[in-house]
Amino acid sequence: MEKSFGPTTVLKNLNFTVAPGERVTLIGPSGSGKTTILRLVMTLEELTGGYIFVDGKPLTFEERDGKRVELPKKRTREMTTRIGMVFQQFNLFPNMTVLENIIEAPVHVLGKSKAEATKEAKELLERVGLADKADAHPTRLSGGQQQRVAIARALAMSPEILLLDEVTSALDPELVGDVLGVLRDIAETTDITMLLVTHEMQFARDVSHRVMMFDGGQVLEEGPPDQIFNNPQHERTRSFLSSVL
Ligand SMILES: Nc1ncnc2c1ncn2[C@@H]1O[C@H](COP(=O)(O)OP(=O)(O)OP(=O)(O)O)[C@@H](O)[C@H]1O
Ligand SMILES: [Mg+2]
Repeated sequence: MEKSFGPTTVLKNLNFTVAPGERVTLIGPSGSGKTTILRLVMTLEELTGGYIFVDGKPLTFEERDGKRVELPKKRTREMTTRIGMVFQQFNLFPNMTVLENIIEAPVHVLGKSKAEATKEAKELLERVGLADKADAHPTRLSGGQQQRVAIARALAMSPEILLLDEVTSALDPELVGDVLGVLRDIAETTDITMLLVTHEMQFARDVSHRVMMFDGGQVLEEGPPDQIFNNPQHERTRSFLSSVL
């Protein structure tokens, strides 16, 4: 895949595959393209070259008679309902309660009944430890609680793929553990494919099958967490790891 912002190319000839159920952590210095990759998969950015495939099917563009053709928006939207994303800044709807935030997409996008969506939302809130906050407004919650709601909201769509972009970076240190605990639980109890960007290296080591080190929009090296963290092959990886560890 390829991505340019105006004249600036940030991803070029980038090619990688994530297996179903695989959990991959993207690491690398600021500006190396990690967020851009997740936003491209979420179709929040337009891919300027190449293709992205989900379950073997093209997501936004496909090759037809040797040409690169954009897919109908409807088709792309159908595919992205199977992808969830959680951001550094929780991005909850501030004018809705916690419960309303979670049921919004299941009701309006998946067409679930309000009763069914509510029942599932309550189970999810239980799961993220916020069963008592269903009727609260997000502004009344701590950052860690808001982030757990954002995770529950993503899970309410039963995603096959979950994209997590530095979801604990905006949190006070004492709130990070609860959020990571929820993510560990998801990793252990579901087969959701996860692409995550995090500076929590112990967490990355524990939950990921593979770590990819990016530099300048390219994969500098990749491998199982033990290999990347204990025995990095590139000096850039070593210096990056020593700066975050
Ligand atoms: N909307 C945009 N317009 C122009 N350039 C952009 C835009 N978004 C990202 N970029 C550029 O693309 C490159 C990759 O940015 P990206 O946000 O993906 O990096 P990152 O690895 O997530 O960095 P960080 O660790 O700081 O979050 C950077 O050079 C950035 O300046
Ligand atoms: Mg980023």
